[in-house]
Amino acid sequence: MPPLATGNYVWTAPITAPHPPTRLPKTGKSSEHPTATDPRKTPTAVTTIPGYIYGTDKVPGSPVSVDEVELIKATLLFGEDDRDALRNSSEILAPQIEAILDVWYGFVGANPHLLAAFTGPDGEPDQAYLAAVRRRFGQWILDTARAEFDQAWLDYQHEIGVRHTRRGKNRTDGVRAADHIPLPRPAGPDAFSLLVRALVGTIRGAFEP
Ligand code: HEM
Repeated sequence: MPPLATGNYVWTAPITAPHPPTRLPKTGKSSEHPTATDPRKTPTAVTTIPGYIYGTDKVPGSPVSVDEVELIKATLLFGEDDRDALRNSSEILAPQIEAILDVWYGFVGANPHLLAAFTGPDGEPDQAYLAAVRRRFGQWILDTARAEFDQAWLDYQHEIGVRHTRRGKNRTDGVRAADHIPLPRPAGPDAFSLLVRALVGTIRGAFEP
């Protein structure tokens, strides 16, 4: 198997202040007013990651509302302490993003049924596609740790979901890989649960001394 692309991830956000995507209003004027005293409002909304459109008006709205997210959080007993812990994690995670991505890509590369999602019509993994997604995935880890569950976040999470399906897959990077990623089945291991397990294991490992 050829080596997987390692990408050239460039962090544009300061480690203590993960990238706060600013939702750009249709008028083009920023609705955010960054201040020096609130690091999460640091004006670092600019990233050079192709296809990463979080916080822009290119993101279609999510059918899920912020109120519904609140219900999900309540159901999961996800409280302010969990949110704070998630936010604190960004300082630990940020310097280890490449290591996390190495594990994730190793896992995908070692599982033909996962690698298929990145495989082109020639039967070979599309290295440019892998590298492009890697950069956005790295940003997603930081965005997740930022734990700002507002409409802009919700909209982009929906967009990420759509990008795993026939409606959106391959379009961002203009590639011709598999056009759909199978969703979880009621029984038995599926690609998503395997990947979630791998992700959780990796992130947990990042916290171990
Ligand atoms: C819950 C589990 C998963 C999470 C959290 C997740 C997360 C992500 C994220 C953050 C991106 C980048 C989205 C963007 O900003 O464009 C992405 C893209 C992608 N992921 Fe996943 N993913 C999951 C499951 C999977 C599985 C099981 C596969 C199968 C190998 C997969 C394959 C891909 C592919 C091919 C893309 C690129 C889609 C495109 O063409 O735009 N993902 N994923």
